[in-house]
Amino acid sequence: SRRVTVRDIAAAKARGDKWPMLTAYDAMTASVFDEAGIPVLLVGDSMGNCHLGYESTVPVTMDEMTLLSAAVVRGTERALVVADLPFGAYQEGPVQALRNATRLVKEAGVGAVKLEGGERSADQIKLLVDAGIPVMAHIGLTPQSVNAFGGYPVQGRGEEAAQQLLRDAKAVQDAGAFSVVLEAVPAELAAEVTRTLHIPTVGIGAGLDCDAQVLVWTDMAGMTKGRVPRFVKQYAQLREALGGAAKEFAEEVVSGTFPAAEHTFH
Ligand code: KIV
Ligand code: NA
Repeated sequence: SRRVTVRDIAAAKARGDKWPMLTAYDAMTASVFDEAGIPVLLVGDSMGNCHLGYESTVPVTMDEMTLLSAAVVRGTERALVVADLPFGAYQEGPVQALRNATRLVKEAGVGAVKLEGGERSADQIKLLVDAGIPVMAHIGLTPQSVNAFGGYPVQGRGEEAAQQLLRDAKAVQDAGAFSVVLEAVPAELAAEVTRTLHIPTVGIGAGLDCDAQVLVWTDMAGMTKGRVPRFVKQYAQLREALGGAAKEFAEEVVSGTFPAAEHTFH
């Protein structure tokens, strides 16, 4: 069976079909989501927080992104795999963006890349698309700018900010992006962007009216430690389940009940 392509994504918007996206950072987890029928997997730079143990997405490198993207591609058969361009991999300009996006396509085998920014990243998006690399844009809250934002505040509140978000959305569509993530945006504004654009919007903390929804998989599955943001729904409690399994294993080793006869060779 062939992989999902950006043409399938465009067709979904034309039909009015909604679709899910999850992040993935390793082959085994990616294979679970692929078998579950998730059509688009994002090797997000959220790997910085939830896979590599950094404080933010800012330290993530091209080497890390390439390694983990290749693993996700190897673990999947059907999903469109999208890799984030990490912070510092495209801010110098379109040529740097093309060099790094090309590496993700050639070395990791991803089908598309994602980068942050609206008007400010339009030149990068255009060169990548001209070169034949599909681009998912990402506007609203752009976590790579955490140091400029001073945290992770909701974006697009107030008339001026709303107009800027609409300009950013049109800029990435005009530059050729095949879809755009709207992160931490009021639902009414996300709905207006979704009506205005002919490319699909992928919401995270952006309400029900986006064409698609994305969650960080460790949040979605209840693996993340501590508090999760308001926009997250936990569909499982994996942290509890996995911790429980580890504790039970430990107890059985200490008490001498594992391995039992059926786990033993003679
Ligand atoms: O890195 C990431 O996980 C993302 C999604 C939240 C859109 O960019
Ligand atoms: Na990201």
